Amino acid sequence: MRYLIPAVLFCLAMAACAAPAPRTAAPPVTPSAAARSGYDAASLERGRAIYLTACVRCHRARLVGDYSAAQWRDVLPVMARKSRLTAAQERDVTAYVLTLRAAGTPQADHAAGAVQ
Ligand code: HEC
Repeated sequence: MRYLIPAVLFCLAMAACAAPAPRTAAPPVTPSAAARSGYDAASLERGRAIYLTACVRCHRARLVGDYSAAQWRDVLPVMARKSRLTAAQERDVTAYVLTLRAAGTPQADHAAGAVQ
């Protein structure tokens, strides 16, 4: 019995180490996805920077794959207003989110837990 608790802790620690690295909610757009999107790469990169700063002030970064493109089109104008984005910043973040969404990354996966 004395060994049970350390053994369980050891197993938990090993499981934690073996788990895959947490996925990021806001990965860079791959060059091929950027090319397919029709948006320019600089706009997508600015959009990502906005997503990683303005969009995490009130809540964690949402997994783009958790919402459909139509849902994003509804939500983004509301959130852009909450974030006090300029029209240009809103266009950039919208370009970034819709491009990621079309590329299918990151996938919605609640089993993997919250990611930042
Ligand atoms: C001033 C605070 C604030 C900022 C900044 C903000 N949000 Fe939100 N966001 C909220 C609140 C409040 C909710 C509703 C409660 C919740 O789901 O956490 C919400 C909800 C959401 C939802 C879920 C909507 C739904 O219908 O389920 C998404 C997606 C989202 N925000 C994305 C963003 C993005 C992208 C940005 C950056 C452009 C952003 N948010 C910036 C406050 C904010």
